[in-house]
Amino acid sequence: MENSDLLILIILGTGREGRASDKAAAFVQKLVAATGANTELIDVRDSGLTTTHADWMDDGVFAADWIKTATAADGFIIVSPEYNDFFPGELKLFLDQTMKPYSRKPAGLVGTSSGQWGGTRVVEELRVYTSRLGMVAVQPPAYFPKVQEAFDEAGAPINPKLAEFTQPMIDEVLWYAKALKTARTAD
Ligand SMILES: Cc1cc2nc3c(=O)[nH]c(=O)nc-3n(C[C@H](O)[C@H](O)[C@H](O)COP(=O)(O)O)c2cc1C
Repeated sequence: MENSDLLILIILGTGREGRASDKAAAFVQKLVAATGANTELIDVRDSGLTTTHADWMDDGVFAADWIKTATAADGFIIVSPEYNDFFPGELKLFLDQTMKPYSRKPAGLVGTSSGQWGGTRVVEELRVYTSRLGMVAVQPPAYFPKVQEAFDEAGAPINPKLAEFTQPMIDEVLWYAKALKTARTAD
């Protein structure tokens, strides 16, 4: 199987006005695109959700779009800031919309923060949550500490090694995406 046979969704986990994680998500998406895989950026802000909405209770219009996109996906990369050691509520509202389309697909985890630890705690919380959703959380994650200072105006990384630090997470997502797609197809 080729990378071009895969669709990897990059999920930007915060809708906060003035967020810095959007540049990290765009950077990750560029790296994924460079592998030849198909990729799409999903912004949780676009959902407009303010309350919980689950497709097994009520299939609203937006959920239908998301379910279609998530069903077509072979893997997910979640780029999430750490808010009080946890992930933003809007990310949970977004992902809780459905369940089945996530099953047996890899999740790459990316933590961002304004501090020096780069979202290490949020990644551990995401590991538990994505497993509950049926995703396979891959190792290693990627971290973007001091995310506000990590990119220039055009979104280029300040540290030339940032791509090198991030690539192992992407390589692992692609490995699992191929392996699990093969297994799902054989089912
Ligand atoms: C409600 C809230 C809680 C936060 N809690 C943490 C935290 O627990 N740990 C941390 O390192 N940064 C924390 N931050 C700072 C974020 O890491 C910072 O905003 C960073 O730029 C990434 O998030 P952003 O995409 O919203 O900009 C918090 C920010 C907000 C808005």
